Amino acid sequence: MIKVGILGVGTVGTSVARILIENSDIIEARAGKKIVPILGAVKNIDKKRDIDIALTDNPYDIINNDDIDIVVELMGGVEEPYILVKKALQNGKAVVTANKALLAYHRYELQEIAKDTPLLYEASVAGGIPIIGALRNGLSANHIESIKGIMNGTCNYMLTKMIKEGVRYDDVLKEAQELGYAEADPTFDVGGFDAAHKLLILGSIAYGIDAKPEDIVIDGIENITQTDVEFAQEFGYEIKLLGIAKKVDSGVEMRVHATLIPASSMIAKVDGVMNAVSVVGDSVGETMFYGPGAGGDATASAVIADIVDIVRGNSGPMLGYKKGLESGLKLLPKDEISSQYYLKIKVKDKPGVLASVASTMGEYGISIESMLQKPSRYKDRVRLLFTTHLCKEKKMLKAIKALRGLESVDDNITMIRIEK
Ligand code: HSE
Repeated sequence: MIKVGILGVGTVGTSVARILIENSDIIEARAGKKIVPILGAVKNIDKKRDIDIALTDNPYDIINNDDIDIVVELMGGVEEPYILVKKALQNGKAVVTANKALLAYHRYELQEIAKDTPLLYEASVAGGIPIIGALRNGLSANHIESIKGIMNGTCNYMLTKMIKEGVRYDDVLKEAQELGYAEADPTFDVGGFDAAHKLLILGSIAYGIDAKPEDIVIDGIENITQTDVEFAQEFGYEIKLLGIAKKVDSGVEMRVHATLIPASSMIAKVDGVMNAVSVVGDSVGETMFYGPGAGGDATASAVIADIVDIVRGNSGPMLGYKKGLESGLKLLPKDEISSQYYLKIKVKDKPGVLASVASTMGEYGISIESMLQKPSRYKDRVRLLFTTHLCKEKKMLKAIKALRGLESVDDNITMIRIEK
């Protein structure tokens, strides 16, 4: 019998313990051994929980427990779980974690500490979708050309409700929290950090990029308005929060941002809390993974898949490679990425203004792809909407600064990147 200790018995921890018990027949059949959750560590031992499992408020009762074979870390946070996971590995216990923030900061140190002790993390990216397994195992014959996806269920749920039902941002965020999709601090969701943590993990498996959140572009959905959603649709796009990692001539681009994507694309049709990740490999071509990206049971499904792999003796190297990946692949600095852009600029409605905006963009080498002029709430103002051809982010940021300096242009310029 394999004994499991769970650090953190919240939404996901409760589901893990319950599914291990309720589905014990199929899990035992697949793993070859009975797997039993024997102890959970929680902060508040008096809080009522929907699961019957022995509890402690001292995580070391699990970490130092000779009876426990596998430690499941579901506490959240970074430094406290890092210390606990490290200690568990040093005690020779296999570890399963769903903690993307922990891995975004410490995956390489943990790989070093773990060595041959299994440390798996399927649930850390895209909840119930087996995307880590796909990249580590199923696609191991491929050089990965790109990874693009919806990796945050809360943002996708919110954008879908805003787009389809016109629900206000604050109301829909509250709903997502009540449904258990959002992080404890939902700014991690709407600010793009949760998706960035996930992208960093995928970037390591696909390209061996050792980067931290501060090294990549992270823009959330906080500034997306109903107007942007409607204007995007006029240009034939939907707005989604995407995580993107792709190989370009000069290195690897990694970024998370609200993105205009063609309304006809498969990812544009992914609604609600669902996640979807497209991976393009040089042998296989494009593959697409779709499923629930958040929620207790869906995430627990991925946690238990890792437990089963460990029990089968099937865990493999933590980041999926035994030697360095493609040598020389470097992460591009944030302002060296290239994109097409959507710009919304509010200007005074008078002769020559459009020409001055267009000529400023021209001065910075930005080529306009299409343009619309829309009335604004204020009589003397109009909104200019542009989409541009591909250009370096560096040029775009400089152009926006220059546009803000023009006498007839309002400071508040909206920039959204476009991905085709
Ligand atoms: N808050 C996350 C999401 C949960 O909304 O996708 C899963 O990581």
